[in-house]
Amino acid sequence: MKIAVLAGDGIGPEIVAEAIKIFDVLRAEGETIEIERAHLGGAAHDAEGHPYPPSTQRIAGAADAVLLGAVGGPQYDSLPRAMRPEQGILGIRKDLQLFANLRPALLYPELAGASSLKPEIVAGLDLMIIRELTGDIYFGQPRGRRTNAQGDDEGFDTMLYARPEIERIARVGFATAMKRGRKLCSVDKANVLDTSILWREVVTGLAHEYPEVQLSHMYVDNAAMQLVRAPKQFDVIVTGNIFGDILSDEASMLAGSIGMLPSASLDARGKGLYEPIHGSAPDIAGTNKANPLATVLSVGMMFRYTFGRADLAARIEAAVRRVLAAGLRTGDIAAPGEAVTGTREMGDALVAALRK
Ligand code: IPM
Ligand code: MG
Repeated sequence: MKIAVLAGDGIGPEIVAEAIKIFDVLRAEGETIEIERAHLGGAAHDAEGHPYPPSTQRIAGAADAVLLGAVGGPQYDSLPRAMRPEQGILGIRKDLQLFANLRPALLYPELAGASSLKPEIVAGLDLMIIRELTGDIYFGQPRGRRTNAQGDDEGFDTMLYARPEIERIARVGFATAMKRGRKLCSVDKANVLDTSILWREVVTGLAHEYPEVQLSHMYVDNAAMQLVRAPKQFDVIVTGNIFGDILSDEASMLAGSIGMLPSASLDARGKGLYEPIHGSAPDIAGTNKANPLATVLSVGMMFRYTFGRADLAARIEAAVRRVLAAGLRTGDIAAPGEAVTGTREMGDALVAALRK
């Protein structure tokens, strides 16, 4: 198992360090795990002058899977857009053709109180958002700045999907639904956008190939509302890049904390980039406060999706449940007055739980 590790910026190095402890345990048990580190984001800009430098392209390209911490920080805000840390993430997604982004929102029963929603609304929540990741308004051309006929400054972007792009992500949606509750909700804005009219047409056209999946469609504004009104109505949601970006952040709060949610970004052959869905949290970087569990769970997803090792994934997930059941809480998931555990201590507890 050849893994490229990109720690990134902010809390990235701290949370990745805890995930590496898992690899160490498994290696000691005899698993063949090879790690190669590379730079991404602001750290890459600092070290090599580009957020996704050639050395990282080579290392990530040669690996079976990539583990990413997080990128970004206020010190990079003034860089030109092409040099900003976010371009590192967007660049690697596009370069490795990681078009399918899986973002599960699972509420651990121990954390029902950490959600900002009433426990009865979120108890038992288990939904999967599948976000298209290499198209849409994120990458559509043309885009840019110009001056219009009135002499006013304009900024513009292009929302764009081609039929094959919609087809392949829709298939991931249907296939995922087949492995879960067999309900797929496709989210679009087909009452307004041409891109979405095509999206809905293509998704609907595939439904007969998956007769066991109950397909529904929802406008994105309604989906945003339904996610906080009655989130348990959803099993799998499939949607485009920008709607998925927004809805997955919203869904993360259902699960108590964005610090709990892993993600997988997969290509057509199962190679993947795995990262927590939270950001680099520069405000708490270097303070041993970050929650490493989303990163640890991302490693679990890596074993499940890229390496076909559901056994290791299940062990990691069980270890996470065990540390939560033992009452360990980083600041983001602690109830008021509850004792707070540090990043490293959480990682050590996890390793101990994993060894059992
Ligand atoms: C995410 C992030 C990224 C995105 C940023 C950092 C480019 O918000 O992974 O959701 O918008 O896709
Ligand atoms: Mg986002």
